[in-house]
Amino acid sequence: MIRSPLMTVMVDAVLKAAKGLRRDFGEIENLQVSRKGPGDFVSIADHKSEKILHEALLKARPDFGFVMEESGIIEGKDTANRWHIDPLDGTLNFLHGVPHFSISVALERDGAYFAGVVYDPIKDELFIAEKGKGAFLNNRRLRVSARKDLADCLVGTGISPSARARFPQFMAEMTTMMDKTASIRRLGSAALDLAYVASGRLDGFWETGLNSWDVAAGVVLVREAGGFVTDLQGQEYRVDSASLVAANTNIHKSLAQTVAAVGAR
Ligand code: IPD
Ligand code: CA
Repeated sequence: MIRSPLMTVMVDAVLKAAKGLRRDFGEIENLQVSRKGPGDFVSIADHKSEKILHEALLKARPDFGFVMEESGIIEGKDTANRWHIDPLDGTLNFLHGVPHFSISVALERDGAYFAGVVYDPIKDELFIAEKGKGAFLNNRRLRVSARKDLADCLVGTGISPSARARFPQFMAEMTTMMDKTASIRRLGSAALDLAYVASGRLDGFWETGLNSWDVAAGVVLVREAGGFVTDLQGQEYRVDSASLVAANTNIHKSLAQTVAAVGAR
């Protein structure tokens, strides 16, 4: 597989930031037992990762803009291109020593997500996709799953721990979806959830209230692996959509309709 210059820039930046995160994750176990806990340490690791990504991408494409989880929006001279960066997706897993987190970097071009990289530094799994060029996991081509019946499907979901007002709604959706699917997974990194849909490990995924940096790369991955990504109303997923439903094309409609039918509480 020959990588485009753009993808090479993205992968190089992500692998550089991942080195630090992997090293810092190794320290977490020692910090769990300290009275203060690893909170500050994780926040520093998160910011360090973002700084590495920002510097590497700025050096390679000086005019592009940025939307970053920690540092916010930085406008670029080139208004058609901007990066969406989550330097550590799955922060709570990282904080508790659970080895399931990722770095997510995407390029938005002319208002649509164009290229994405999601990297799991612990499992050394590199998911990449660029519009029209397909999706890959460590150089192997990805396809979404082929399951047709929602009842056979394993479906991911998530909710931010700070979205307390939405917990009852989330629980109602979970109750319905537990009933209608093989089962539900709440794995803790939306970027990886989408990468897992792209690779057929999950048949689908839904979540409300995500930010662009959580999902931008994953959206490109799912689409390039042959899946659909919309909001809960079935409209094509856009940079500012409030909800997200991603799945293989066979179950996408019934997944979106089943979640939407739970209704707002
Ligand atoms: C969170 C994770 C989680 C999702 C939350 C996100 P963070 O991102 O992606 O899976 O359910 O909505 O905020 O805080 O770990 O970067
Ligand atoms: Ca995130």
